[in-house]
Amino acid sequence: MKLFSNFEIKTIKMKNRIVRSATFEKMADDDGFVTDKLIDLYVNLAKGGVGLIITGNALVHTSGRSAPKMICIHNDFYIEGLKRLTDAVHKEDGKIVIQLTHGGRQCASIFLHGNPPLAPSAVYEPVYKVKPRELKHEEIWEIIDSFGKAARRAKEAGFDGVQIHGAHGYLVNQFLSPYTNRRNDYWGGDEERRFHFLEEVYQSIRDNVGYDYPVMIKLNACDFIDGGLTLDESLRIAKRLENLGIDAIEVSGGIVESKIDERPVRPKIDSPEKEAYFRGFAREFKKNLNIPIMVVGGIRSRTTAEDILQKNDADLISLSRPLIREPDLPKKWMKGKDIVDCIYCNGCMRFIKLEHVKCTQLEKKK
Ligand SMILES: Cc1cc2nc3c(=O)[nH]c(=O)nc-3n(C[C@H](O)[C@H](O)[C@H](O)COP(=O)(O)O)c2cc1C
Repeated sequence: MKLFSNFEIKTIKMKNRIVRSATFEKMADDDGFVTDKLIDLYVNLAKGGVGLIITGNALVHTSGRSAPKMICIHNDFYIEGLKRLTDAVHKEDGKIVIQLTHGGRQCASIFLHGNPPLAPSAVYEPVYKVKPRELKHEEIWEIIDSFGKAARRAKEAGFDGVQIHGAHGYLVNQFLSPYTNRRNDYWGGDEERRFHFLEEVYQSIRDNVGYDYPVMIKLNACDFIDGGLTLDESLRIAKRLENLGIDAIEVSGGIVESKIDERPVRPKIDSPEKEAYFRGFAREFKKNLNIPIMVVGGIRSRTTAEDILQKNDADLISLSRPLIREPDLPKKWMKGKDIVDCIYCNGCMRFIKLEHVKCTQLEKKK
């Protein structure tokens, strides 16, 4: 089976094609330091046989906090704890990449000491019900620099690579998207200028980690919002990134304001028709690019995962919710299991109420 064949992303040698997609854990301590609980989560995933783990979104700059108890990487004093995490995963023969993020306008003021969130433009955010403040030039450069420094810390802490969070309506996506970027300066105004923020972030990361270190991105193929990014533009963004030297792209879509069935984390995936909802987009990325493509979103059976790979719609299968429910799913799939136990109820998404992210169906059974 192709699903259990080896794969390489630059220096990362994966034992299979299964990726744990970035999943916020709510398991760092209040100051963003790694805890034993967080380490246990990742050790269990590594033991469960996944080919590559991507951590939950880690904070590169304090102005981008979108949730409590996020992993932090905005200061050198986080390196020691992060090194404990990577050591523990490597001991179990796992590979781990950290996702670097800034929430931009998708942050509630309570996480920002009452300050308004920052964004490319002051476009009202209806979910957090907040109007962000437009970023100033010097603030933009400071955030770009923070992505680079975070990547340098990730490398020092032993991560096998980094993934830029460029999807789901977070800051990088906000700059790329004409819906949230209404600027008319170096950072916005047309497609090329809207790409500048990501280009500078990418360059800052490369300046810090060099070209031998794996740098990946999660991208929206489509924002699913009027005036937002469409597939055509996303493909051009991906091509630019490929030319710059990005090592892999994870294809996702939607922002928090998209309709419920067009968001990144769609509910009630209970039939083959609803499964793998970004597969068609991933196929277009595969056709247009020559770098590894991961597809995420509602992949609920081994049969579908294998079919995606066989038909060359993606190189890698990325999963979030099924691995919250069954961290050892890869091993079970290897033994012949097909449909995942996750019922896509999205109970795990209610993380403001939950002590930490977990499968609430399993909780009910206890
Ligand atoms: C509890 C939870 C937390 C998530 N946190 C992140 C995150 O930190 N970064 C990210 O890019 N996506 C995050 N996602 C989205 C997932 O990575 C994935 O794109 C989405 O859930 C679709 O995949 P699935 O159907 O396999 O769950 C999260 C999803 C869930 C359910």
